[in-house]
Amino acid sequence: MRYAISYVSTANLELKDQSISDIMTKTNEFNKSRDITGILLYNERSFFQLIEGEKNIIEDLYRKIAEDSRHHDIIKFLEKPVSRLPFDGYMTDFITDIKRFNEAKLKNYLHYIEVLNPESQVALKRVVELMMV
Ligand SMILES: Cc1cc2nc3c(=O)[nH]c(=O)nc-3n(C[C@H](O)[C@H](O)[C@H](O)COP(=O)(O)O)c2cc1C
Repeated sequence: MRYAISYVSTANLELKDQSISDIMTKTNEFNKSRDITGILLYNERSFFQLIEGEKNIIEDLYRKIAEDSRHHDIIKFLEKPVSRLPFDGYMTDFITDIKRFNEAKLKNYLHYIEVLNPESQVALKRVVELMMV
């Protein structure tokens, strides 16, 4: 049984694009090596993240993330076991002006959210859409 945690947060003001890229690179490497799947998105100072994997690993990672001084106002809105099959790999992305109206990309993000229950899906789709428009 896999376990999922999802939250939104606000990046600290002094955090530059390069530092956000560094977080994303490290996240990709670490998460792939620990069979953690999900998504990390960043746009206009907001992070949106879903991490999914073995329960202890996810709980330990979330504790670290929550203590990370590079972001604040962390709002965890989902934490539960998930019975469906995991998605392949981990995905991180900046959402920029260029990507804003890329429907295919949006569908790709929303596909990741399908692992969650229907009520959470509605809320999360709203969060992702708000981040992209
Ligand atoms: C918004 C945000 C999301 C993060 N997501 C992950 C993640 O999914 N996986 C990861 O290994 N580190 C992630 N990190 C980095 C961790 O907070 C932490 O720096 C990293 O696990 C290294 O911890 P350590 O130095 O204690 O090993 C994230 C940081 C931030 C600010």
